[in-house]
Amino acid sequence: MNQFWSALRGWWREHSRENGIASAASLLVRNLWSFVRESTPEQRRQRYGDMDYEWEHRVNTTSGTVGWRARLLGLFHSPYQPTEPGLFREMMASLPIEFDTFTFVDLGFGKGRTLLMASEYPFRKIVGVELIAELHHAAEENIRVYHSPTERCAQIEAVWMDACDFIFPKTPLVLYLFNPLPDAGLRRVLRNLEWSLEQSPRPVWIAYHNPLLDSTLAGSPWLERTRVTPQYSVYRTKSAPEGC
Ligand SMILES: C[S@@+](CC[C@H](N)C(=O)[O-])C[C@H]1O[C@@H](n2cnc3c(N)ncnc32)[C@H](O)[C@@H]1O
Repeated sequence: MNQFWSALRGWWREHSRENGIASAASLLVRNLWSFVRESTPEQRRQRYGDMDYEWEHRVNTTSGTVGWRARLLGLFHSPYQPTEPGLFREMMASLPIEFDTFTFVDLGFGKGRTLLMASEYPFRKIVGVELIAELHHAAEENIRVYHSPTERCAQIEAVWMDACDFIFPKTPLVLYLFNPLPDAGLRRVLRNLEWSLEQSPRPVWIAYHNPLLDSTLAGSPWLERTRVTPQYSVYRTKSAPEGC
């Protein structure tokens, strides 16, 4: 329950500061109401709509089986929703890189589907961080049972922590973001990344799925956008030599 109150406090601080108390209170009521509506058996069945990946790989990355505690926490952070495989492949195909020199990083990996999908590429390493313990445990189990004849990177590390405190590996990076953070958190991550790049300049590509805060990335003078679609944007550090 402590985690719940601290998530609610953080959420309230940010929203009441940005939008005022009345509008934060109204958003809170709307969020809680949508949580109640989404808890009906019918809505739960709809969340199983993303099961193809599960059948194919014998894992459990669907949002349909996420327990109510993790869903409630998701209201104050970012609700878990796995990336659709076809879209993930499209985003990876848009990166003109030699994968084996890059580390793949997903901030907010949920039940770990992206980490498994990234293992189909010859990344040097795959690292993810997730804030919600239940999702982190599910991801660890998925990594344990996942076997694929097409797997090309077996080094997967799933860390349970706040993405805002993550220290980036000092290798070239593909950073994957599917809206894990509100604006303040995203800005903190970008400051951490910029600091890390000042210490160790290296190429970084960012695949940003469902780019609700695209203007925050676009406003970073050290990044340039190389692709924009309604579903995702791709950025790279300005000094990144192609194909590095
Ligand atoms: C939309 S889901 C994306 C899941 C996964 N990246 C994917 O694409 O399949 C966002 C995830 O971010 C996680 N999250 C939210 N705030 C976070 C934080 N501060 N640190 C780490 N993870 C966070 C949520 O728990 C959720 O699992």
